[in-house]
Formats: sequence, C-alpha cells, structure tokens
Amino acid sequence: MGKRAFEAKCAECHGANAAGQNGVAPPLVHRIYEPSHHSDMAFVLAAKNGVRAHHWNFGDMPPVDGLTNGDVEMIARYIRELQKENGIF
Ligand code: HEC
Repeated sequence: MGKRAFEAKCAECHGANAAGQNGVAPPLVHRIYEPSHHSDMAFVLAAKNGVRAHHWNFGDMPPVDGLTNGDVEMIARYIRELQKENGIF
C-alpha cells in the first residue's frame, strides 16, 4: 500500500526506492530522515503543507494532493522499511 502510494505520488521526485534523484529531490533513505530526527508526522506534514528547502539545495517541496493522513502514514511505514534495510533506524 505504502509502496504503491509512494510510487504514484513521491517517486517522481524522491526516486525509485526513495533513493533520491540528482537535481530534483533528496533520498529519504538517509540518516537525516531517521525516525528520531523526522517522525512519521514530518511525512504527514510534508505531504500536506509542502516543505521549505532547508536541508538541501533542491528547492521547496510542493504540497502533494490526493492523499489522506492514513495514506501518508502507510508511505512513512514503507520508507521506514527501506531505511531499516539500509541500516538506518
Ligand atoms: C516535486 C518534487 C517532490 C515531490 C513530488 C515530493 N517531494 Fe518530498 N521533498 C522534495 C524536496 C526538494 C525536499 C527537500 C527539502 C529540503 O531541502 O529539506 C523534500 C523533502 C521531503 C521530506 C523531509 C521533510 C522535512 O521535514 O525535512 C519528506 C518527509 C518528504 N519530502 C516526503 C515526501 C513524500 C511522502 C512525498 C509523496 C507524498 C513527497 N515527499 C513528494 C521534493 C518532492
């Protein structure tokens, strides 16, 4: 579920498997986004309100339409699994 929603709404910027894309958006599988620094709520807020560029030089992230908070929580859970597989937790 989370994977499908991610691929539909986030992967165009954050890349397949949230690995990021040069010049577009950062990887979410990254120490910066480990759960103790960016909670699942940060994902919900990012999708709802967008993000002002602050960690990187990719520019702002626009709000993403068409997702409920529950959808984004599923996406966050998917990202957590990818993070764990990559030793980030
Ligand atoms: C139009 C491109 C784009 C799309 C689509 C996009 N993002 Fe982002 N996202 C960005 C950029 C650029 C940043 C980096 C902002 C910065 O400099 O910190 C970012 C940052 C984030 C952050 C970090 C927020 C923080 O508090 O630092 C999260 C979490 C995130 N994105 C989740 C998502 C999710 C989930 C989706 C899909 C629902 C998504 N993004 C879709 C471009 C995008």
